[in-house]
Amino acid sequence: MESPREQWSGKLGFILAASGSAVGLGNLWKFPYITWNNEGGAFVLVYLLCIVAIGAPVMMSEILVGRRSRRSPVEAFKTLGHPRWSFVGWLGVIAGVVILAFYAVIAGWSLRSFVQCVGWSVDGYEAPPEAAFGAFLADGGTQVGLGALFLGATALVVARGVSGGIERATRILMPVLFAIMIYLVVNVMFLDGFVEALVFLFRPNFSGLSGHAVLEALGHAFFTLSLGMGGMLTYGSYLRRQDSIPRIAMTVAALDTLIALVACVIMFGIIFSVPSLRATMESARSTGEGVSTVGMLFVTLPNLFYTKMPGGAVVGPLFYVLVAFAALSSTISLLEVVVASVSERLSMARGRATVVASAVVFGLSCGCALSLGANEWASSVRLFGGLERLNTLVTGGKTGFLSIFDHVAANWLLPLGGLALTIYAGWVMPAADTQDELDGVGDDGEVRRGYVVWRICARFVAPAAIGWIVVQVLLGGDFS
Ligand code: TRP
Repeated sequence: MESPREQWSGKLGFILAASGSAVGLGNLWKFPYITWNNEGGAFVLVYLLCIVAIGAPVMMSEILVGRRSRRSPVEAFKTLGHPRWSFVGWLGVIAGVVILAFYAVIAGWSLRSFVQCVGWSVDGYEAPPEAAFGAFLADGGTQVGLGALFLGATALVVARGVSGGIERATRILMPVLFAIMIYLVVNVMFLDGFVEALVFLFRPNFSGLSGHAVLEALGHAFFTLSLGMGGMLTYGSYLRRQDSIPRIAMTVAALDTLIALVACVIMFGIIFSVPSLRATMESARSTGEGVSTVGMLFVTLPNLFYTKMPGGAVVGPLFYVLVAFAALSSTISLLEVVVASVSERLSMARGRATVVASAVVFGLSCGCALSLGANEWASSVRLFGGLERLNTLVTGGKTGFLSIFDHVAANWLLPLGGLALTIYAGWVMPAADTQDELDGVGDDGEVRRGYVVWRICARFVAPAAIGWIVVQVLLGGDFS
């Protein structure tokens, strides 16, 4: 009836593609700044807990639903006999479009930083005026253009399909990324701030931890592992039967976490080595304003490469290549979810579906690109207009398309999508099916302990934890 479904060439292909999806701006851009604003230690601990107790089991659930159904998120549930659950797939497609729209814009900034660094490496470093980044953000044409460039590159890969496009790209991107990270962290080990960065990250101080911070940690665990919107489900649908889902999921989660922590060590290590900088950043945090979302990765760091780091002229441009690569392997996975769903649902050829999906995303992405100062309305819009309480509750009071998209997708769509998916895998799917997918029964016919742990997490721990956090935030009275 139809051509056989594409597959990864093997386990490594899947691991590279899935960790390519997971490792991205979430690790390099978002995690460091939210960790800084939430005072390190305790936040990191909560985040790690979320990865282990919620992230990993949810990832296994997503992959197994994908492999069992061999369908995209919008068709998977119907194929498995539960068409009513298809809303989870649709929610995922919406989340994918929303995330991709703002993600591509931020990814575009790495291209600018790269070009800038190359200029500095060649012509010598000259500190840019303080207002330069703001002016760059407010330049609508550039923002739209860079975002479009990134979407275009993403579409080119996705149009080529699973093994010929996605796997081939990530086979190059990921090893290069690991190599650059190692080079950077080795450099940072020789700076004064290295040890302090470790202390900041790993010494918990619970006094600063709020309900919102816990939700943020949870939301970020979903975001960084690419969970809750069918990304891993889609990649899982191309996974070969003989590959072990639990092992693969744990490898991907561990790699992603390692890279996020290493990114923090690199950034904080540099920042702690410069007393004046550290003071400014600490005061930004203590006024409650927090360091700006753009500041750390795109403004502070380039300067430090050229003023503080030996070999900065090499490291600088290289670092932004890394950011761009990491972002690209993530945008690929976001677009793949939308393309797989559209092409399967409407029986459209992959190439065509890619064009349609990218066009829709590009439209929204223009809104994000113009929301950084270029357009007054796009920059100040609120999700619920004048309804202050609702704005605070749902969007954390954020204004402008980019910030709103980011907040709503990460803090609400992903955790709720993940919640629905685990409930499906834990309660609705027959245990025999999940056992089969997760190698739940040993050769001796006994149910394996690892499977039991997964099932407890999927049925109880993850849903309870997500539900509890959401209720806390809804009732928390913490939103004045
Ligand atoms: N995980 C990626 C990051 O950390 C972003 C991402 C890619 C994503 N695909 C996703 C997030 C699917 C949520 C869902 O940058």
